[in-house]
Amino acid sequence: MNISQSIHDILNRDEVVADLFYDIFLDRHAEVRRFFVGVDIRQQAVVLTMMLSIIEDFYRHSYPATARYLRLLGQRHKARGIPIELYPIFSQCLLETLKRFHGQKWNDQLNDEWQSGIDKASAVLLEGYQSDRANPSARSAGC
Ligand code: HEM
Repeated sequence: MNISQSIHDILNRDEVVADLFYDIFLDRHAEVRRFFVGVDIRQQAVVLTMMLSIIEDFYRHSYPATARYLRLLGQRHKARGIPIELYPIFSQCLLETLKRFHGQKWNDQLNDEWQSGIDKASAVLLEGYQSDRANPSARSAGC
């Protein structure tokens, strides 16, 4: 199995894969819970599940439009006060979620591709933290 077959399975399931992610992330790392006060975690899981599709797409194509979106997302996380130091544990929990989701189908290729995809997307999100511009996007990125 490769990352593209993996995303096909993820999007095709009735269950929301990232529900498991938030169970793992918030359970293992009590220190991150304060960032989610007032956040509807089940809705957030729906958003993060679709984000996996963007991560896979960016891993394969590196589209500039996707990079712009990821930098904007990074700016929004910076505006929320989310420390850069939390990204490695976020990534680790996301990989663990994918591994558990696939069970027996998990293999080294899938592990490497998802690891690379998550690292690549995270690096561009973090570029958003370097932006010197004022950040009206944090308030007005809605359509
Ligand atoms: C690769 C890393 C990450 C990705 C791809 C990601 C993805 C997303 C996306 C797509 C959203 C919804 C869009 C938005 O509200 O701007 C979001 C919101 C959020 N993220 Fe992240 N995130 C990442 C890292 C983190 C980390 C490390 C934390 C640490 C606590 C975090 C906490 C949050 C919170 C609190 C929200 C707001 C939810 C809401 O207000 O409904 N994220 N994230």
